[in-house]
Amino acid sequence: MTIRIAPSILSSDYAHIGEAVRLVEEAGADLIHVDIMDGHFVPNLTFGPGLVASLKRTTRLPLDVHLMVERPRSFIPQFLEAGADWLSFHIEATPHLDKDLSLIKEAGRKAGLALNPATPVHLLHEILPRLDHVMIMSVNPGWGGQKFIEASHLKIRSLRRLIKQAGLEIAIEVDGGVGPGNMERLLQDGADVIIAGAAIFQDPDPRGVISRMRTIARKYESA
Ligand code: DX5
Ligand code: ZN
Repeated sequence: MTIRIAPSILSSDYAHIGEAVRLVEEAGADLIHVDIMDGHFVPNLTFGPGLVASLKRTTRLPLDVHLMVERPRSFIPQFLEAGADWLSFHIEATPHLDKDLSLIKEAGRKAGLALNPATPVHLLHEILPRLDHVMIMSVNPGWGGQKFIEASHLKIRSLRRLIKQAGLEIAIEVDGGVGPGNMERLLQDGADVIIAGAAIFQDPDPRGVISRMRTIARKYESA
């Protein structure tokens, strides 16, 4: 099993995003998580496709773009064009999941759905075969540095069971309030992409945090 560590630049210093990305790349990160917020789906604003295009020129790591936007279909083509490798939008944000996922799949990129903390995983049942990854939000989206919601453990377990029963291989990402202190239990639950913002970028030694996370991940990769 491959475990991926995905630092979220939401908690980096925006005047030095390129340096932050290079630092985590050298430290052994696997993906760069980029949070796109539109001020409607979540009450905060962040980045647009321009930043994604710049990051694409800055790093060799795949970009894991997380759309927290209403009407994702109107933005998906721009983020594909900008170079998003993994692209997720929220199941709560559109009634046209199948159509919107098709746009991503047809471009040959990895398509995912994100679920807010109160959204049940069984909603994914029929759409599961179309997905490359599912993102379980373990905080209410909008800001970095929030406290992990404990009920997420159960959701990850149920989702892993659902995926297994369907005989599929789908990555489970966990996003919000995650760091070296609680990632081990998440790996036991069945998560395989660990997204972490504040735990990495608010620490005086981001390199050290990633290397601790890598050590924990290794135990499960060889298991
Ligand atoms: C929250 C974002 C997360 C955020 C996680 O809405 O989707 O990706 O960066 O940050 P931490 O790890 O600080 O909770
Ligand atoms: Zn995110």
